[in-house]
Amino acid sequence: MSKVVVTGRIPEAALELLRAEHDVDAWDGSESIGRDELLARVAGADAVVSLLTERIDGELLDAAGPQLKVVANVAVGYDNIDVPACRERGVIATNTPGVLTEATADIAFGLILMATRRLGEGERLIRSGAAWKWGMFFLLGSGLQGKTLGIVGMGGIGQATASRAKAFGMEVVYQSRSEIDPAIAAELGARRVDLDELLEISDVVSVHCPYGPATHHLIGDEQLAAMKETAYLVNTARGPIVDEAALAAALRAGLIAGAGLDVFEKEPTVHPDLLELENVALVPHLGSATVETRTAMATLAADNALAVLAGEQPPTQIS
Ligand code: DGY
Repeated sequence: MSKVVVTGRIPEAALELLRAEHDVDAWDGSESIGRDELLARVAGADAVVSLLTERIDGELLDAAGPQLKVVANVAVGYDNIDVPACRERGVIATNTPGVLTEATADIAFGLILMATRRLGEGERLIRSGAAWKWGMFFLLGSGLQGKTLGIVGMGGIGQATASRAKAFGMEVVYQSRSEIDPAIAAELGARRVDLDELLEISDVVSVHCPYGPATHHLIGDEQLAAMKETAYLVNTARGPIVDEAALAAALRAGLIAGAGLDVFEKEPTVHPDLLELENVALVPHLGSATVETRTAMATLAADNALAVLAGEQPPTQIS
């Protein structure tokens, strides 16, 4: 039996898989585990199943010890893991691509609708108890039919968002390191452009690229100024891809029409200027938050950990 440390609460189905074969120490506090507690618990672990709220760095890997074989992240994004530090210590790192694609694209599209159709403003108005009645010019938003969606980062989630856009009658352009499969591009009617062109021609810009040094503040003052004054920005990827202070200033100055955010630079803190603005829809990192998706993510992470502990290739190793 190996020792498996799970850094936070995960669905029971995944815990059962792990418990069937190994000795499992799972943090079950309602708050995230504290750093000191985590460093103490990982000592002697053969596998760590981590949540994106925990930083997995050299310090933690060393606290675990040289027997550690795998860090299985319950997320597709792995900016919380120092992958080179894992490699240096011969620790395999895995993530959960694929299983949260559709759920996250749903939230991206939900935010597109919230921002363009001013749903948050309408909801807040009713809950405030303020008087309102139907009016020809009351809370007018912007329609999507015939508009252009610009997707920054055309991996699985970007493509799933594009297919939703197609169903809404939108044109799709995308910016990505490489061309996507031409058959998929043709089916989605998606054309690859560079970021400058995408920002210039899109009515909605939706961010789906991974976060890392190359994408830190990819969308800042200059990029926001390059967007149409009638355009919207949506981010369901990682907060620091967008410079929140620049976004708040652009929204306030009317450089763009609105925004929708599921992720934030310093989660769970939200830039105070954004909280004051009506034209930004804010939701608390809900991209993968469905029962089905979270179960699939945790189960895939468990499968990854179990495979490595059995000396096998894990299904989804981070390359
Ligand atoms: C991920 O898997 O990276 C998501 O952000 C989790 O919701």
